[in-house]
Amino acid sequence: MKELTLGIIKPDGVRRNLIGNIFSRVEKAELKIAAARMLKLDRAKAEGFYAVHKARPFFGSLVESMMAGNIVVFVLSGDNAITRWRELMGATDPSKAEKGTIRADLAENIERNTVHGSDALDTAKREVAYFFKEDEIF
Ligand code: CMP
Repeated sequence: MKELTLGIIKPDGVRRNLIGNIFSRVEKAELKIAAARMLKLDRAKAEGFYAVHKARPFFGSLVESMMAGNIVVFVLSGDNAITRWRELMGATDPSKAEKGTIRADLAENIERNTVHGSDALDTAKREVAYFFKEDEIF
């Protein structure tokens, strides 16, 4: 099934010059970059994005790390794009991620884990709409 999913290159990834590395993995996997933009999150936008994690002990620090610098938000499109992007990223904790995945190869730690991806169809819809209008997605 053709899906859209939201990806983010987090501040640690942008700071370490990894945009091209990450996009090249996306392109090699034959996922289509259907929209992309660089921006810096303010507190309200970062807290709103991670609202489902509000009660978690790491929430405050996660929000701070997402506001620490520029991010790249993008929409991927393709058959099973949600799962395929999650497979490319690897497990949330880089120390548990499979070799060859973005997080295993590039991420610093569980919080500064370099990339984000939507985890299901309903969250993908919400997250894509959080950053992009329909007419910005090709
Ligand atoms: P992400 O895929 O963006 O979704 C939620 C984020 O919370 C996750 O990546 C990590 O950056 C962060 N996170 C998840 N679990 C922990 C944890 N145990 N400690 C710190 N940060 C976490």
